[in-house]
Amino acid sequence: MSVSIRCRLGILVSGSGTNLQAIIDRIESGEINAEIACVISNKADVFALTRASRHGIPIVVHENEKFPERRLYDAATVEILRGYNVDLVILAGFMRILSDVMVNAFPHAILNIHPALLPSFPGLHAQQQALDYGVRFSGCTVHFVDYGTDTGPILLQAIVPVEQDDTEETLSSKIQKAEHKAFPDAIKLIIDGKIKISGRKVLISE
Ligand code: GAR
Repeated sequence: MSVSIRCRLGILVSGSGTNLQAIIDRIESGEINAEIACVISNKADVFALTRASRHGIPIVVHENEKFPERRLYDAATVEILRGYNVDLVILAGFMRILSDVMVNAFPHAILNIHPALLPSFPGLHAQQQALDYGVRFSGCTVHFVDYGTDTGPILLQAIVPVEQDDTEETLSSKIQKAEHKAFPDAIKLIIDGKIKISGRKVLISE
């Protein structure tokens, strides 16, 4: 299947938004042919919203606590994204697992970044999981979202060496630097029509 998308991005966040900033910067530099249609946060008062506002991007605070279950929250998220005519959904530090409602609404059009080399260390505290396991290398993974947790087809990965004195904080910071290149790179590949998905494999054309 060929994946090529005219792009209005909907970016979901939960935190400081350094990945959001990296994407904004690459769009503003003209490298990525996209518009950020909206930034949606499941938490009020996160710095990602300030970053979006500074760049004139519409923001939506969409708190999950107000919804009795995940699928209802996701159905409301889909409505918001549709309202902004979003083509591609970007999970940029969005700390919630998506239900089938979101995945079905945007097939092969949701990208996540995870702070480990999947399939190792999915889920929460990936950096600490990697340290506890004693790996010599970790990194980040940009992948399409499917029905599992951090299981979808992998688009890009970047490797970060783990030093003996690394803490969760220092490793996270090094991985984030890698994320800030890999995530915009992955988005650009999709927008430039260079991606095909074949089963689990993501094929990248030159
Ligand atoms: C990033 O490191 C991202 O990999 C991680 O949250 C951080 C968000 O930082 N995402 C996950 O752990 C998702 N399971 P940011 O808000 O500064 O972009």
